[in-house]
Amino acid sequence: MERIVIEGKNPLKGTITIGGAKNSAVALIPAALLADGVSTIKNVPNITDRDALFDIVRLLNCDIEQDNKTIKIDTTNLKNVLISQELSVKLRASYYFMGILLSKYKHVEIYFPGGCNIGSRPIDLHLKGFKAMGAKVTKRGHKYILNADELKGAEINLDFASVGATINIMFAATLAKGTTIIKNAAKEVEIINIMDFLNKMGADIKGAGTDTITINGVEKLHGTEIDVIPDRIEAGTYILMGALLGDNLCVEGIIPEHNKALLDKLKEMGVCYQINEHSIIINKCEHLKPVDVTTLVYPGFPTDLGQPMSVLLTQAEGVSHMEETIWENRIGHYPYLQKMGANIKLEGLKAEIKGKSNLKGTEINATDLRGGAALILAGLIAEGTTMIYDIDYILRGYENIIHKLSSVGAKIELEKI
Ligand code: UD1
Repeated sequence: MERIVIEGKNPLKGTITIGGAKNSAVALIPAALLADGVSTIKNVPNITDRDALFDIVRLLNCDIEQDNKTIKIDTTNLKNVLISQELSVKLRASYYFMGILLSKYKHVEIYFPGGCNIGSRPIDLHLKGFKAMGAKVTKRGHKYILNADELKGAEINLDFASVGATINIMFAATLAKGTTIIKNAAKEVEIINIMDFLNKMGADIKGAGTDTITINGVEKLHGTEIDVIPDRIEAGTYILMGALLGDNLCVEGIIPEHNKALLDKLKEMGVCYQINEHSIIINKCEHLKPVDVTTLVYPGFPTDLGQPMSVLLTQAEGVSHMEETIWENRIGHYPYLQKMGANIKLEGLKAEIKGKSNLKGTEINATDLRGGAALILAGLIAEGTTMIYDIDYILRGYENIIHKLSSVGAKIELEKI
């Protein structure tokens, strides 16, 4: 087992380079299986979710070649076999194999997907889409069996703009007969990255990034190449660290527009930053103004940055509010921030945060990926030593986080215990 040990209060100076987006990569890797032949995906982040997907891709008898951040997936010998519970529970994104294998083979057997414990995480909207296209869904215990004689295009109105359901239905529709229209689709930028990959393979998809996506089914797809877009959540996490401790901290390799909701909030708080074409230079703000933040679907304030943002709010001078509206359990980090000395009143998913608090280092546990990142932020600004346990959650989604932070001046280490 390992823990993260942080000595707080060191300024962050220098450059952090952002990797490829986790939420794009975990869909692009399965998407390669829709094509016949070899596809190349560049800028794949070095995270443990990637490795969990590789295990499933290999189980399905595909070859993977990896050269640093570039991977090639060869589907020549693809076999449609049961995806075991052991593999599917390692990450949420294993559900993408449902849409892909259904599209290609009209038959899938897979166990319920896993992922962070941030809510009940149903997949009813994914299934609603597959059913509308003609699939029959049978559930045996935790196993799903999906069958279709033929997948036919349909108009699917999502009750909630779910990222996963939008992408999964897009996958199923790509090789279906006729036209599928997804209404109230999620608009997250990662979905555009996936559409671009599929269209380069020969698919006919329009509208990703808007609330209506139209997919004209095609018969076959061929291998191609794609770059994973920069990770706006990783970028946002380091930008928040810059607002707390930056001494001209440069966060580079980003698309600033993707972080607009965060940057607008930071401006409201009085944070100084300079936006360049592909980077942001950010400085510690001595007198932060309190603000109210509500997480929303894109382009609103991202739920994945709500927990890291709450740490910044502990340093604002006055009362701020943070409300989570997407996941019912994204609050696991609050008791640990309280243990460190933060003044937080939690009522359901609404936190009232009174600052400015002097946080003190102590022993704390990551309860999920973004909550874990929030605890790193807290450790970086705390007095003394912070020890974070259950760090596997963090390594699932932040590549080389210890190295990236050490290289800009943080005193942070992975310690074997
Ligand atoms: C994706 C992201 C995750 C982010 C989330 C919201 C990936 C791998 N993960 O997760 O980082 O926090 O988008 O931006 O891309 N829901 C249903 N039924 C469904 C599907 C979802 O009720 O069939 C609900 C969920 O319980 C949740 C909300 O819809 O309350 C959002 O879920 P969704 O957008 O699907 O999130 P994910 O795609 O799982």
